[in-house]
Amino acid sequence: MRRARTRDESLFGMSAHEHESARASRAERASSFARVADEYDRGRPSYPREAIEWLLGTEPLDVLDLGAGTGKLTGALLAAGHRVLAVEPLAEMRAILIAALPDAQALAGTAEALPLADASVDAVTAGSAFHWFDERLARAEIARVLRPPGVLGLLGNGFDTSSAWVARVREILGPPAIQRPGHWPAVEDLREDYVEVEDREFPHEQLIDRASLRDLASSRSSLALLSVDQRERVLAGLDRLWEQEPELIGRTQALLPWRTRARRCSRLR
Ligand SMILES: C[S@@+](CC[C@H](N)C(=O)[O-])C[C@H]1O[C@@H](n2cnc3c(N)ncnc32)[C@H](O)[C@@H]1O
Repeated sequence: MRRARTRDESLFGMSAHEHESARASRAERASSFARVADEYDRGRPSYPREAIEWLLGTEPLDVLDLGAGTGKLTGALLAAGHRVLAVEPLAEMRAILIAALPDAQALAGTAEALPLADASVDAVTAGSAFHWFDERLARAEIARVLRPPGVLGLLGNGFDTSSAWVARVREILGPPAIQRPGHWPAVEDLREDYVEVEDREFPHEQLIDRASLRDLASSRSSLALLSVDQRERVLAGLDRLWEQEPELIGRTQALLPWRTRARRCSRLR
């Protein structure tokens, strides 16, 4: 049973005004991706095939990839055999996706007002994206466009800090969104919409060099919003790791280990 909300009830402990201003500042920060779309595409990791198979199975499905960005997850979904509709609000991000992935159908749109008919897809995915959405509106829209039984798959990449140099990268950049508390909707809230909610982690690696480590950093919204000087100081700190960290010294490339977190919400209520 869905929990009924009265009109005046606060949303997630916020007043309607606070909710609206949180939404506005989130949207402002999210628009920073438009300035760093190329860096995003060059520097960010993809997602492991095992995570996609665990979320969606191996039969081809109609999948909506929400907040698709430059297509990191979209490409992995296509490679796993799915038919993919990619929704992304920023034209700069979408242009890269369209050029790289002609097999995906790309649409402008937001999670809060999906440009799709009711019950039109088997699955919805969001890679490193759900925290940018208005949770309440997005959850309702996702439930509307899913065709039962329906699966919502959330994914995010966190640094695997078991290597000392990766711990240093995380120290310099701060934890990625996935490693911050409250990143995803609470399991108990998701259980209002889905019968099963389960979490798993999958290891994977990304080949990086000095330039792509800089791109990875520059594509973070926290860095995109800094002044040029401030950003350059952070990037110089990353450059120095190639001379300071025993696992990087003398190398031009390295495998950056990630832990992909996945949350599978299945069977719409
Ligand atoms: C960190 S990127 C993730 C991109 C891609 N899914 C990936 O895994 O690399 C977050 C994306 O969410 C998009 N986004 C932000 N707010 C959104 C919203 N309200 N609805 C849909 N997408 C949104 C941003 O434009 C950005 O492309």
